[in-house]
Amino acid sequence: MLSGRLYGVGLLLGVLTFGLSVTHGANASPSQPHADIQHGKAIFLRTCGVCHGLNRQGGSEGPALKNIVSKITHAQLIAWIEKPRPPMPALYPGQLSKQSVYDVAAYVETLK
Ligand code: HEC
Repeated sequence: MLSGRLYGVGLLLGVLTFGLSVTHGANASPSQPHADIQHGKAIFLRTCGVCHGLNRQGGSEGPALKNIVSKITHAQLIAWIEKPRPPMPALYPGQLSKQSVYDVAAYVETLK
């Protein structure tokens, strides 16, 4: 009987601790999803490099994206990729998921 009750308490505590760690994990990452720079690089080479230059020097169509952090904010970069001004095509949400937009933005921000 007693061990059964102890087991029940242990189970309850376990569930509580698990619940707390899950909540904590959610709080640890703010509203923005975690960006994967390596994935962003792959997207850039595949999707953006044609116009912006695989060596980031600018391509035949688009300007070089070096040092974008000194020009526009992170929020502006995300907004631009989602809704660019022509002739740059809007690749979101057709070709790029929301996560891919964050990933490629994070990569572009590493270009110096
Ligand atoms: C079809 C060619 C093309 C593709 C593909 C393309 N872009 Fe562009 N992009 C352009 C052009 C052209 C401009 C300049 C538009 C303007 O300033 O009016 C531009 C501008 C930009 C700018 C603003 C640069 C600045 O100095 O203000 C960013 C940032 C950007 N592109 C990021 C991307 C990313 C990231 C991708 C891939 C997801 C991408 N582009 C794909 C053609 C392209």
